[in-house]
Amino acid sequence: MEKLAIDGGTKAFPGMKGKNQPKIGMEEFISIAERFGFSSAALQRISAAVSDDDLTHGEVNFARYYCPFPELVKGPKYEALAREKFGVKFALPVSSGTGALHAAFIAAGVGPGTEVIVPAVGFMATSAAVVMCGGVPVFADVDESLHLDPKAFEKRITPRTVAVAPTHHWGGVADMDPILAVARKHHLKVIEDCAQSPGGKYQGRYVGSLGDIGCFSISCYKIIGGGEGGLLTTNDERLYERACQLAECGGLWRQDRFAPPRYEGELFVGTNYRLSELESSVDLIQLQKLDGVVQRHHDVWLRISKQLKTFKEIVPQKINDLAGHIGYMLRFFPATVQLGEKIVAALKAEGVGAGMRGPKAGPDWHQYADMFPVILKTPTAADASPFTDPRYLAKGGQVEYKNGDCPVADDLYNRAIAVGLNQWYSPEDADAVAAALNKVLAAYCTADAKAARWLP
Ligand SMILES: Cc1ncc(COP(=O)(O)O)c(C=O)c1O
Repeated sequence: MEKLAIDGGTKAFPGMKGKNQPKIGMEEFISIAERFGFSSAALQRISAAVSDDDLTHGEVNFARYYCPFPELVKGPKYEALAREKFGVKFALPVSSGTGALHAAFIAAGVGPGTEVIVPAVGFMATSAAVVMCGGVPVFADVDESLHLDPKAFEKRITPRTVAVAPTHHWGGVADMDPILAVARKHHLKVIEDCAQSPGGKYQGRYVGSLGDIGCFSISCYKIIGGGEGGLLTTNDERLYERACQLAECGGLWRQDRFAPPRYEGELFVGTNYRLSELESSVDLIQLQKLDGVVQRHHDVWLRISKQLKTFKEIVPQKINDLAGHIGYMLRFFPATVQLGEKIVAALKAEGVGAGMRGPKAGPDWHQYADMFPVILKTPTAADASPFTDPRYLAKGGQVEYKNGDCPVADDLYNRAIAVGLNQWYSPEDADAVAAALNKVLAAYCTADAKAARWLP
């Protein structure tokens, strides 16, 4: 009988002779990346980013087992860049913006018997994620920035409210100072939905670093889209730990992974929103481009806006932060829908891409009154509805959703004209778009130097 290795015998398998191969080959990955239209230089950089690693334990995104906390080591590259970029202590890559919101609300203690205030204009993922946690979303009206109106928000607070989730959208930013002041006064957590405005800033600070948690989407529809992906940012270690717990079932990434809970609420059942190594290597590169993308959009928007004349019948979208506004869209409200229809048709004829929803438009999941899966209070399963949960009812909870709850949103959303702007417009292109806008508005509206201004 051969002597066992444990008894000093020869090892039967002294080491692997084969070369580790990534589970997903570079060829497959690059062929996917090519479909997203990446330049050959970008493809080379992606290739360099992933070629050295076995992608099961890649260093781009999750290498948590070995470096769970940023203070121990710099950490995986994508997380490190996100922390550095947004100026936060913790960044958690996840597989979607919705996953980030779900993890954020759970981290913030949203559950049965609680309410979260969300803006009447945003995207349904925000309110849906509240319901997914067993909480009840309460819509508050917007103002002429089409972002959460801080006064309307305060009026919606009840003893059940635990959080507010302002959405920064269409390249704009919410008016965070008054929102934060109200939230702090009432001890509410602030979850920023930054999916549509990554890189936007409020008073010099990136959105996603102002409240308690920031949630981002990096889906293909966003300005730094990379396919699919999301990101959660926070400065609060406990919120980060709880978000990790939700976003990776079985992860439990702590210094002693299998230790009992160190505090109440540390450990609970989570799900899986892990971002793949392949995706995060793309997102890493996309995130590096963010400042350039934002600056180009901002410059185009500002150059056009500075040239626009003021008209009695036109109210431009209120801008909450001039320097921090990304501006991939220019929005304004004509006095009537009929006027708006004429302006849109004329702008299109001028070659400027413009649109207005109008009152006859079909449903739109960016407007509270159309968010049917939420406002119909449909349960996820029999007896699993936050709206009829005894813990909610016992606290006097009884939310009703109906058209007219948020009159400013009802009115402005339908008659907002949106002009899509291209970050690659040359100064001449921008000047031509401004000239077209002035030309069309002058034709249908009354020039008025005292009318609402385009820029604050
Ligand atoms: C404001 C807002 N929040 C959240 C999301 C959800 O992001 P994802 O599609 O990555 O889940 C979106 C997506 O469009 C969004 O626009």
